[in-house]
Formats: sequence, C-alpha cells, structure tokens
Amino acid sequence: MASNSLSPGRAGLRSRTISIGEQSFPYYFGADCITEISGAIADLSPDKLVIVTDDHLLELYAAEIERLAGELPFLTLTHPAGESMKTLSCLSDHLETALRAGITRRSVVVSFGGGVPGNLAGLLASLLFRGIRLVHVPTTTIAAMDSVLSLKQAINSGVGKNHIGTFYAPTAIYTDVRLFATLSERELRSGLCEMAKNCLAIAPAMLDQLRAVVAAGELANPQALLWLLDASIAAKSSVTRHDTFERRAGLVLEYGHTVGHAIEISDHRVRGTAGIAHGAAIALGMLVAAHISRARGWLSDDEVSVHYEVVTGLGVEPCLPASVGVADVLAVVADDNKNGYLEPSPDAVPFVLLRALGRPEHTGDLPLVHVSTSEIREALEVIAQSRTAAPAVGV
Ligand SMILES: NC(=O)c1ccc[n+]([C@@H]2O[C@H](COP(=O)([O-])OP(=O)(O)OC[C@H]3O[C@@H](n4cnc5c(N)ncnc54)[C@H](O)[C@@H]3O)[C@@H](O)[C@H]2O)c1
Repeated sequence: MASNSLSPGRAGLRSRTISIGEQSFPYYFGADCITEISGAIADLSPDKLVIVTDDHLLELYAAEIERLAGELPFLTLTHPAGESMKTLSCLSDHLETALRAGITRRSVVVSFGGGVPGNLAGLLASLLFRGIRLVHVPTTTIAAMDSVLSLKQAINSGVGKNHIGTFYAPTAIYTDVRLFATLSERELRSGLCEMAKNCLAIAPAMLDQLRAVVAAGELANPQALLWLLDASIAAKSSVTRHDTFERRAGLVLEYGHTVGHAIEISDHRVRGTAGIAHGAAIALGMLVAAHISRARGWLSDDEVSVHYEVVTGLGVEPCLPASVGVADVLAVVADDNKNGYLEPSPDAVPFVLLRALGRPEHTGDLPLVHVSTSEIREALEVIAQSRTAAPAVGV
C-alpha cells in the first residue's frame, strides 16, 4: 500500500512508499525534475546504466536521457516503438548487447518509456546475473499510473500477449509529469481511463475530485497530473498491498477489462494500430459492466450516470466502435484469461461487477462473479445502439 502521508522526498520530488507483498520501494514524482531524478540514480552508485527505451522516445528525448545518466557511463538499448518490441528476439538482442558492453552486478537497468520498454526492462533486469537493480522512469500515463505499480513484467509470445514473464520489483520509480506534455491526446487519456477505473471500482472517495479535474478540462496541467498520479498510486496500491501476484484482491483491477479487452482485440483485428486505445476500450467495458450491475438491481441509475460522466469527460464516445459487432466481442469474451479463477459454469464467464461504487461483488474471497453471455449481450446492445452516424474513434 502507498504510505498514508505524502512526503516531500528528495528536493523537489514528492514520494510515496509502495508495498506489494514482501516488496517495498519508493515512488518519487514531480514536474521538471530530470536533474533530481539523475541525482537519485547516481546515489545508487551504479558502475553503468543500461537505459531501455524506444526509437521514438530516443528521438524526442535524447538530451533528457543524457541528463538522466549525468556523469555515469551508460548504454542505450532501443527498438522501434510498440508491441513488436515485447518479443523474445528483442529481449535476447538486448541481453547480449548489455553483456558484451561489460555490464556487471553493480549496473542498473533504467526503463525510460511507456509500458512496453518498462515491461522489457523489467524482464531484462530480472534475468541479468539472476537479477540486477531496476529503475523505472515512466513516460506515459499508462506506465506511470498503472504498469509500474505492478510487479508483472512480461513480453508476448507468438500465441498471445504477456505470455512470457515474471514478477520483479524495481529499486525505485521516478516520474516527471512534464514528459507527458509530448503525449498524444489518445495516449494521455488512455492512462487516465485506467485511473478512472480505479476510482470507480476501488476508491469512490476520489471521484468528486476526479470529476472536478475532468470538468475543468485541464488534464495536461502538471498540477492536475500530479494529483491524478498520486490518486492512482493510492488506489492501485490499496489492493495490491497483500496480493503480490494480483490473483486475489488485485483482480478488482480487471474492472471493465473482460469486455474492454475484447472490444480492443476486435477493433484492432479490423483497424490495426488505428483501433481504439486500450484505456478507451476499458472505459467502454466499464459501461457494459455498469449496465449489467444495474440490470441485476445492484447499481443505481445515478451510479451508472457517474460512469458515463467520467468516461465521456475523458473524451471517450460511449458507444461501440462502428467496426466492432456485438457477436465479435462475445466471441473474444469466451476466451477471457480470467477463466479458471472460478468453477467453470456453462455459458458464463468470471467478471468484476460492482454492488455499489467501490464495492465489487465477491465469490469466496475473489472479486469475481459469473456473468452469463445473455447479460453481456444485452448490455453490449445498449452501447451498440448509442452509435452515432460518424464512426467511433478511440481517445
Ligand atoms: N505490467 C503491468 O501490470 C501492465 C499494466 C498496464 C500495461 N502494461 C503493458 O504496457 C504496454 C502499454 O503501455 P503504453 O501504452 O505506455 O505503450 P508504449 O510503451 O508502447 O507507449 C505508447 C507510445 O507512446 C510513445 N511515447 C511514450 N512516452 C511518450 C512521451 N512522453 N511523449 C510522446 N510519446 C511517447 C511511445 O514511443 C509509443 O509509441 C502494454 O504492452 C501492456 O501490456 C503492463
């Protein structure tokens, strides 16, 4: 869990302590703080830095990467941006390059980038000499507010996403929210949708302030981003504190994911990388979950409206993309990776559903319930029918 009080930490940086199971590490964050981050990394006394990034970021931020390394010798490992980087061949190339460059057990792996370089760097650090120090410098909202708050490090196999991986803790995380200034609207808002999910499913006390930030339309403002980041850390950490592997209480983080992930996959099959952004798809998945809860008499109309207000405030059209059919989504949902957590039930899948905002329904100690295909179909049809004439686009 994040420590209750926000401490000033190093000069100019706020900090929280993240505890996940037995692991505990600091998360420092601020605005315009590359120099402070560089000083903090130097304090770890590494003999060399292995900076893992992507080509797009290297082009944008070569000067900041050099500032980050300061006086320390460093090696930059890069690759064209995107999921094609999360492969065994890229990992293998990076491992060989790092070893040939003479890194040692005193070296530190630094991820500088979004969730993709972050996951690859995590795996790399865990494998080199059976584990060397890892520091994350997340540059996307998804990475800063979501992926670095998890110990999960994975790459993709030819069969599916995140199939090859491990759990590995960083030594520290450092976020400079100024780096978000160059994110596209789509990428900026994608992480904020995950943050909104955490407010709806875990920390509804934060909803009023989230609604105020969204209503003010200043999502790129550094002060707003610092609040959003701090709130994300508090909400996500509260459920992973005693759930290192995110297989019990942490499953609530899957709110909106069963259908959201299926919408994302279905759309990307048709539109490729121009398809809906991950966070926007999760936002639609939350609307479907909210409709199912309302149909069961659990969520009130007001609570469903709060879902709509937050989702549309984050720029997500509350309707199924025109390229995606209800049947496509249902076909993908049937293969959902939460299958296996509950006893199999014919024609039903395990699902995170809310009894009330911040209160997931449980089966035993798992925040999952069986939901039938017909319930999912009915809720999907509600958001399919709200399609406008124009094709829906991801945020
Ligand atoms: N470990 C976990 O628990 C966890 C959680 C969430 C997501 N993830 C993983 O994270 C990945 C998605 O993360 P992502 O959305 O950050 O993807 P990403 O790392 O591919 O970044 C998306 C794009 O944004 C660009 N970018 C990054 N920072 C930028 C900046 N400051 N300015 C301009 N452009 C910038 C990148 O070059 C890339 O093109 C997925 O592979 C997912 O599996 C893991």
